[in-house]
Amino acid sequence: MISGTLTRLKETTHLVVLTGAGISAESGIPTFRDAMTGLWKNYSPEKLSSAKGFSQDPALAWGWYEWRRHKALRAEPNAGHQTIAKLATKLPKVTLITQNVDDLHERAGSQNVLHLHGSIHTARCFECRHPYEHPETSAIVKFPESRIEPPKCEKCGNWVRPNVVWFRELLPAKALREAELAVKECDLMLIVGTSGFVYPVANLPLLAIERNITTIQVNLTETDLDTKVTFDLKGKAGVILPELYKMAFEE
Ligand code: APR
Repeated sequence: MISGTLTRLKETTHLVVLTGAGISAESGIPTFRDAMTGLWKNYSPEKLSSAKGFSQDPALAWGWYEWRRHKALRAEPNAGHQTIAKLATKLPKVTLITQNVDDLHERAGSQNVLHLHGSIHTARCFECRHPYEHPETSAIVKFPESRIEPPKCEKCGNWVRPNVVWFRELLPAKALREAELAVKECDLMLIVGTSGFVYPVANLPLLAIERNITTIQVNLTETDLDTKVTFDLKGKAGVILPELYKMAFEE
């Protein structure tokens, strides 16, 4: 199986990579649904990742995002992020699509990353969308102890919210269009560290599978894609991806 993966990888003219929280797990950023460490184990997505939940308890939601943002600021890209960035120097074209709101792909050297669920590093006014600049800080934010009142918009005085896509909100249309186009054109899709529960992003691997192109999944545990992808590699992204790269391009 592995030799097939390597051959396809080396011969790829357009690789699409789709990542989820699993690729940042080894950088110490909690995923959402992993039983022990998942962010959702104590709080429902509704409460923390929806406009309704934010309006009902802005201090809880903003405290949660500040806790995650500070974790992301202190995190470093891992070998999985770095390998994906290196693939772009070896192949004619690589399109990187992520559901992650951290900037570890960019800090590993990836460019033009399509963030389909927004960014935790920027914020805007909940009402008038006026941009909000986070102040520099080295504070340690604990959750849920630190319920933090969100800042107020300097323009209209309403709450500031993170620039992430909440449940029942539309994804950035241009990024989603580019992502769908890339999946329709590519000849290999690599799906890393996503449970595949959240649509419309979860449709992208299915689009590739329908096109009968080669699909490779790298995940620690089972997902619905296990029996659908061409190659299903179980294990940590930070271990498997560098291994694949080494065997394909350095041996
Ligand atoms: N290497 C590879 N895969 C891993 C690793 C790892 N080191 N650690 C965890 N995983 C896998 C888990 O097995 C799981 O399948 O990563 C996946 C993480 O799944 P989720 O926590 O559901 O994260 P994700 O798929 O990115 O969630 C999608 O849901 O909550 C919303 O907006 C949020 O963008 C998020 C979306």
